[in-house]
Amino acid sequence: MRSIEFKTSVALELSGLDVTPKKLQDLVGREKPKGQHHMRYTPEDLRAARYHMAGVERAEAEANLFAAGKIPPVIVFRMTKGGVGKTSSAVNVASGLAMMGFRVLLIDADPQASASSLAMGTSDDQIVEHHIGHFLLKKTDTPDPELPAAIVPVYEGGFLDLLPSDITMSEADASLVTAVAAHERAHRFFVKNKDFLSSRYDAIVVDTAPGTTPVGLAFTYAAKEASKIAVVVEPVGDCIRALESLQSNLREIKSVTDAVVDMEIIINKYHPSLKHVRDNMGVLYTSYGKKLNDTIIPQFSGFARQMDPANKDSKPLVEADPSSVGAKAMFDVAKSMILSYGITHPGLSMAAQREAA
Ligand SMILES: Nc1ncnc2c1ncn2[C@@H]1O[C@H](COP(=O)(O)OP(=O)(O)OP(=O)(O)O)[C@@H](O)[C@H]1O
Ligand SMILES: [Mg+2]
Repeated sequence: MRSIEFKTSVALELSGLDVTPKKLQDLVGREKPKGQHHMRYTPEDLRAARYHMAGVERAEAEANLFAAGKIPPVIVFRMTKGGVGKTSSAVNVASGLAMMGFRVLLIDADPQASASSLAMGTSDDQIVEHHIGHFLLKKTDTPDPELPAAIVPVYEGGFLDLLPSDITMSEADASLVTAVAAHERAHRFFVKNKDFLSSRYDAIVVDTAPGTTPVGLAFTYAAKEASKIAVVVEPVGDCIRALESLQSNLREIKSVTDAVVDMEIIINKYHPSLKHVRDNMGVLYTSYGKKLNDTIIPQFSGFARQMDPANKDSKPLVEADPSSVGAKAMFDVAKSMILSYGITHPGLSMAAQREAA
């Protein structure tokens, strides 16, 4: 488990509050520790600041939400093509939301387990108690008693937790192929565990495997709660063709199940000096204009460094280098999702959030 801290300029950006450094420190209600040169902020500080700003009593608000027991907003990252940046986006958005003071559960639904290693900051094999595949295969409709113990804390204070994966997750895909109502399993997992999930998390982020796997399909169906999946693309020809196949995938889900799931497209690895990239950007804007997220994530070397298997101490870019252009783009994507998925703190209205963003 890691503790995270960041400097004032980062805290101001992450708070989403239009305040001076002095005002932020007042809202946080904490003095700079003696002997420390500059104030360092934590996710807990930013959460406290938002409650103070809204004048809402936090303990009471958090207790009320538990009674409400709704599934927290679920952001499902998907793309049929591999290597486009699903994992980089999922983990950095999850980590970014956590740094902002939202309590996030990251679910690694890919047997490659790259989100697990990126979030935990190690490429060593970890012992995985139960991965999401275990839960998707269960037929019961009661809360899963083994879920709390399967969750690994990543950031202290409950801000980022992980339901990790490992290679045995691929067996779940194989078993789901012949399972009854396999496409409903992820949704059912969320529904039956909603009391636990809503008591602990403000948002859930899911990283999926490339291709069209039963587990990926189940999470796509579960995305009907938000009416969309987050689709990461590179502005290259292959990806645009893969988008068409994903689109027909979604149409098929609708015709078979009546679940309406659209896509929100996030363009990644943008590099303005390459002509084919510029040409493909034109195609994306013409064919998918309305579905594009406003933020374009640039090609940035920091993303490659964070995934380097030789780098044992790798961390999500937003955490390692929060002032970099790559991290700023990820924070912007995360902020847009706060609004479009309705991610909030218990007891704080969306209007207050919108004001803050
Ligand atoms: N914006 C970026 N700039 C530079 N490199 C990037 C960027 N985004 C991702 N990468 C790099 O591209 C590679 C693939 O990224 P990532 O693993 O996130 O993709 P993925 O879609 O999850 O892959 P898979 O389909 O295997 O799950 C990694 O080496 C990553 O560091
Ligand atoms: Mg991946």
